[in-house]
Amino acid sequence: MSISVNGQAVQAPEDPRVSLLDLLREHMQLSGTKKGCNQGACGACTVIVDGQRVLSCLALAVQFEGRSITTIEGLGEPSSLHPLQRAFVEHDGFQCGYCTPGQICSAVAMIEEIRRGVPSHVTSDLLSSSISFSHEELRERMSGNLCRCGAYNGIIDAIAETWKEAAE
Ligand code: FES
Ligand code: FES
Repeated sequence: MSISVNGQAVQAPEDPRVSLLDLLREHMQLSGTKKGCNQGACGACTVIVDGQRVLSCLALAVQFEGRSITTIEGLGEPSSLHPLQRAFVEHDGFQCGYCTPGQICSAVAMIEEIRRGVPSHVTSDLLSSSISFSHEELRERMSGNLCRCGAYNGIIDAIAETWKEAAE
């Protein structure tokens, strides 16, 4: 069974020790997904698997046979940016850009978590069917994605701007 990466079918590596991150970067040359800590602490390697965010450095590629993976290359291209990519540019959501692909993949899946009603540590009403898109919620839910450049204010502004209709 193959793995779908940005709509393209790829065979799982023969070596079961290959991480999903190394499959993407080293075997497929999809270098948009970044290797930061390689131990689950920084979020730079975040990709979207069947709509959910996954740290690809902590996952073995063979686990994802039959699953559908979206990386930053699958979200947008230079000629047709994803709305969140455009918002990152407009709101100075990055400096060096190393954490940015992970931030964007994480945010896209995070918004769906809010829509599904998955509570976070700061959700005040656990029984409410609709969770607010407040900056506090966004900051808490994006706390697994570190930015060494400290572009956090721009990152949150870009996310809030992209989904402002949802927040109203
Ligand atoms: Fe995966 Fe840091 S590289 S969490
Ligand atoms: Fe440099 Fe986030 S933009 S680490």
